[in-house]
Amino acid sequence: MSPMLRLRPLTTEDRAAIAEFVLNDPDHTRTCFDREPSPADADDLLSSAAYGSGDVAPTLLGAFDADGALVGLIDWACRWPTPATGYIGLLQVRPGHRRQGVATALLAHAQEAAAAAGCRQLMLAVIARNEPARAFWERLGFQWLAPQRARRAAPLEAVVMHRPIPAPQDGTRGEAQPAAAAHSAPAVGVPA
Ligand SMILES: CC(C)(COP(=O)(O)OP(=O)(O)OC[C@H]1O[C@@H](n2cnc3c(N)ncnc32)[C@H](O)[C@@H]1OP(=O)(O)O)[C@@H](O)C(=O)NCCC(=O)NCCS
Repeated sequence: MSPMLRLRPLTTEDRAAIAEFVLNDPDHTRTCFDREPSPADADDLLSSAAYGSGDVAPTLLGAFDADGALVGLIDWACRWPTPATGYIGLLQVRPGHRRQGVATALLAHAQEAAAAAGCRQLMLAVIARNEPARAFWERLGFQWLAPQRARRAAPLEAVVMHRPIPAPQDGTRGEAQPAAAAHSAPAVGVPA
């Protein structure tokens, strides 16, 4: 059964939990940056979330399980790099909590916020050799920006992917694309 998730913004008070979270997944920084994770990664996430203002102020959102443990996080910025784009910086789920819809739930929340801010697409960069992440993004309906014939990238090259956000008049604003809709996300509680 899917866990009950609670989503809320992360603040400096969550620094220890974020540090523990990133240190718990050394494979991620090894795959993407060829280095070990460090507590400074938590500071980077928090400072980038505090950085910027107005239209491009990034948001750092955490997913907590029923026991109050941080099991996933996502950061994104609305209206960057174009006024109609929501850019996802990091989406990460605690290894023991994967394949339970946590990332799908975080992404759905980010898309809803981006849509409300007037964004018409989500965009991100994924390291080419990060095969599980690429499988996730493709499963969620994201496509490479490069044409099909150019879909080769060096292992550490970042591949840019995007997914349109349905227009509000479609009556589906903020909802997942068909590929994502097929995956059942866990129940989510988001404080008002
Ligand atoms: C990529 C990541 C965020 C996915 O998180 P998750 O909570 O496991 O994803 P979900 O449970 O919402 O998965 C939704 C669907 O995506 C696909 N998917 C997810 N992980 C996958 C994997 N490792 N391999 C293949 N497909 C995968 C599946 O179709 C899955 O549905 P299913 O479990 O019913 O088959 C997680 O693996 C992670 O944190 N990886 C390390 C950090 C990272 O690389 N982040 C991306 C940076 S760009």
